[in-house]
Amino acid sequence: MADLTTNYMGLTLRNPLVVASCSLVNSVEGVQRCADAGAGAVVLKSLFEEQIEADTKEIERHVWLAGHTEAYDYVRQIGIETGQQDYLDLIKRAKEAVSIPVVASLNCITPRWWTDYAKKMEEVGADAIELNISVLPSDPRHSGDDIEKLYYNILEGVKKSVKIPIAVKIGPYFTSMASVAWELCDRGAAALVLFNRFYQVDINVDKLSVVPGYRFSAPEEINLSLRWISLLAGRIKCDLAATTGVHDANGVIKQLLAGASAVQVCSTLYMHGIGHIAHILSNVEQWMKQHHFESITQFGGKLSQKDSDRPELYERLQYIKALVGIE
Ligand SMILES: Cc1cc2nc3c(=O)[nH]c(=O)nc-3n(C[C@H](O)[C@H](O)[C@H](O)COP(=O)(O)O)c2cc1C
Repeated sequence: MADLTTNYMGLTLRNPLVVASCSLVNSVEGVQRCADAGAGAVVLKSLFEEQIEADTKEIERHVWLAGHTEAYDYVRQIGIETGQQDYLDLIKRAKEAVSIPVVASLNCITPRWWTDYAKKMEEVGADAIELNISVLPSDPRHSGDDIEKLYYNILEGVKKSVKIPIAVKIGPYFTSMASVAWELCDRGAAALVLFNRFYQVDINVDKLSVVPGYRFSAPEEINLSLRWISLLAGRIKCDLAATTGVHDANGVIKQLLAGASAVQVCSTLYMHGIGHIAHILSNVEQWMKQHHFESITQFGGKLSQKDSDRPELYERLQYIKALVGIE
């Protein structure tokens, strides 16, 4: 039998297939089903900053209406405690239920609050924390430098308060992706998760209204993270996990060849069910057998740019020959 064991952020995973943060892993039952299907680890659904803020505002409103204005100063703290308790319970119960690593996830927009939260997540047994940092840089007064600093501040704040490994999940919209990746690792990220697929906006032309875009990815969307994982693997000081567009065993194998230590799946599990995990893993094993690989270390990162004899292939943005015959 092929050995699928991998090391991700210092955690030993029985295989590199990780269930990405989403609603499938928002309950102990969901986590259990993923573990039973063979997942190497799970990243719990994110605890969203807006969720906490909404809880806090609701309590603030009640306190205000009841006239207990003297309590106002304490209210934010109460709101935070209330919002987080369910999430802490989920971590604790998930850890009791499964033996695979359970990664907690925080959706951060601002640096405040997260430091204390992260500490509590560690205390209840989270094996690692994934910071899902999603800032839409829509304010023209904020420079790229301001936005990048925000990412670094959030990471540094959390890093100070916990000992467990921290992964940072980011989107692809940075002018200098390599520099941001380097800086995040330099500030102590144990892994980068590339790339988050953000909520999409669409327009309904019949109803003349703004509507949510399609929630799930397509397999073609794999190429952006594939490029960046192959460019960064072995060049930065932390592990890389792939997310977006991995739908089958081929997708997993490609990301491993590019240099990912872990490969996250989400959309494909919504489309084919959680049982699809076992199917993907068995096809990865079959491929390894065909190519006479006994362990992932024998082929992991084999097609990263660092180890390539044709590094220019990874960097070409416009390829004239590829367009010949199409134009
Ligand atoms: C319904 C749904 C809920 C999601 N919720 C979260 C979340 O809470 N936190 C997060 O970091 N990513 C979330 N994601 C993003 C996924 O973790 C993943 O990065 C993204 O879907 C791309 O991977 P895929 O192509 O395998 O779907 C969600 C995605 C979906 C479809």
